[in-house]
Amino acid sequence: MTQLTITRPDDWHLHLRDGAALKAVVADTARQFARAIIMPNLRPPVTTTEQALAYRARIEAALREHEGLPAFTPLMTLYLTDNTTADEIVRAHESGQVYAVKLYPAGATTNSDAGVTDLLGKCTAALEALQRCGMPLLVHGEVTDPRIDVFDREAVFVERVMQPLRRAFPELKVVFEHITTKDGAEYVRDAEGPIAATITPQHLLYNRNAIFQGGVRPHWYCLPILKRETHRQALVEAATSGSPRFFLGTDSAPHARGLKEHACGCAGCYTALHAMELYATVFERAGCLDRLEGFASLHGPDFYGLPRNTDTLTLRRETFTIPDEVPYGDATLVPLAAGESLEWRVVHY
Ligand code: DOR
Ligand code: ZN
Repeated sequence: MTQLTITRPDDWHLHLRDGAALKAVVADTARQFARAIIMPNLRPPVTTTEQALAYRARIEAALREHEGLPAFTPLMTLYLTDNTTADEIVRAHESGQVYAVKLYPAGATTNSDAGVTDLLGKCTAALEALQRCGMPLLVHGEVTDPRIDVFDREAVFVERVMQPLRRAFPELKVVFEHITTKDGAEYVRDAEGPIAATITPQHLLYNRNAIFQGGVRPHWYCLPILKRETHRQALVEAATSGSPRFFLGTDSAPHARGLKEHACGCAGCYTALHAMELYATVFERAGCLDRLEGFASLHGPDFYGLPRNTDTLTLRRETFTIPDEVPYGDATLVPLAAGESLEWRVVHY
């Protein structure tokens, strides 16, 4: 196969940042995806509908600074806190621009200090309202208990948080974001009720050895952290299975080069530049290129209850060398697998 045309995909998990950073990265996503779920972990976090709509307007303004981009729609989210009210959820839903609410356990990752400290103790009114509106809860599924090994935090989360949450709110739509383990994938595959998961390109392409190959490689550090090979294989199996419960979410998370290559480097991989090329590589290696469209373009809108896109995206078999860095305001950004080559390239008309 030398060319592949699919329904235009969407990115169901994306960090766009704000200000100069937003202007630097937004076009990369708009060139590949028709829509993206925009993460709310700004500083301060996006906790109200008013803030989400203002952020949306800044994204639109940043898009207008680039010429010739295809149409792109940002799907906004709210950041759940211990103090999120049921009224705020209803307002968000009624705005028609906020599509989900994100749960960050307090301290789990970048800008998560305002996150939830006790989900079933403090957030029941908000969760009830979400369940009533049919708006998904997007879950960063890692416990933050420092006694739990960093590689086990997702599996322990399933037991300690995900199962009790879904027993208490069986009709709540839940997206288990960026799953990284066999435990996460099997839970989502087998659980009852409305649940799905996003999977990133880095967790499909790499295991944890990639972080340490030839020395510490900070550009392979993200959260949840890459896991061992058996987990990577389980994720590839889930993504390429054809199950509508698994769909694309890059978790593209830009951080300036200097903050990645640092004594305490930030978590996040930049993949917006070459997301579809990375996913096509995974699906081709698994012998399942015919299933890429379901994962990238169909399962996501179906789960969210949104229409599928009607335009298309074409990938061509062509050697593409990932640039060493790209501009990022006053700084630069190192894309995942910089300097390496891929055998697919998105065709930009
Ligand atoms: O690696 C990550 N980076 N994981 C997250 O959960 C947050 C993200 C970011 O915002 O940088
Ligand atoms: Zn994320």
